[in-house]
Amino acid sequence: MKNLIDILDLSVEEIDEMIAVANDIIDHPENYREACKYKTLATLFFEPSTRTRLSFEAAMLELGGRVLGFSEANSSSAAKGESVGDTVAVVSGYADIIAMRHPKEGAPLVASMKATVPIINAGDGGHNHPTQTLTDLLTIKREKGSFDNLTIGVCGDLKFGRTVHSLIAAMSRYSGIKFVLISPDELKVPSYVKNAHIRNKGIPYEQTTTLDNVMSELDVLYMTRVQRERFFNEEDYLRLKDCFILTPEKMKLAKQDLIVLHPLPRVNEISTAVDDDPRACYFRQARYGKFIRMALIMKLLEVK
Ligand code: CP
Repeated sequence: MKNLIDILDLSVEEIDEMIAVANDIIDHPENYREACKYKTLATLFFEPSTRTRLSFEAAMLELGGRVLGFSEANSSSAAKGESVGDTVAVVSGYADIIAMRHPKEGAPLVASMKATVPIINAGDGGHNHPTQTLTDLLTIKREKGSFDNLTIGVCGDLKFGRTVHSLIAAMSRYSGIKFVLISPDELKVPSYVKNAHIRNKGIPYEQTTTLDNVMSELDVLYMTRVQRERFFNEEDYLRLKDCFILTPEKMKLAKQDLIVLHPLPRVNEISTAVDDDPRACYFRQARYGKFIRMALIMKLLEVK
């Protein structure tokens, strides 16, 4: 039984296969309408979500399957003190596959040790978000045609931004990659991520606190939100929350074939005036999330 806890649980070849399936689903959705008939997905979300939970649910429904679950910890027996291990041991009896989001780093890994059905990490605290990365990879492949030879700027909260940690791990496996890490000093990429996926692999990178100076270099700009829910101190959040705001003026400095990604939700970090720029891909990216999650569910359920 295979789980998806970390994006590196999938080989480059497996990701290529899933992207091919997702592209085929986009072109021929009718061929997949009964792929998961009689199968059930449980979405156990101990933390808020719009895209991840609803795209998982839409994915399973479009595969002909069924969904059940909860969208907040307080509506589950976690509120009475039930452990994650006990919760998934029980839900394994009700569902064929479980997508789980939890505020504690490592909770999906713990769940995978107790579950008897595949566990998908739908985001664990400030750690990882592998299905967002699959979404990002499908978007990059469709928009740029290849993963190689890209200069990727990641901007904003790189400390708590779990999407960034998973994206760096995934992109570090392709050739000709350069990372530009754009954040305030307090929100830099954690050293464990930088060491494992950038320094130890000899990947070139630049670290900066200003976006304008590097805009012209980038092929991909991955904007992220400063995450209020991860701060211990409201004052620090208020001081840092608007550290980067992407505006049409900044977009003038960029390449014509730049793509702007954002896992969403957005707060202030991309001006809505950028939305009409053809280089703004974040709403397409959110849509692609459903198709790659369909491909993932099929893979983990071993549906042909
Ligand atoms: N990108 C993402 O994880 O969005 P949600 O928090 O809405 O699921």
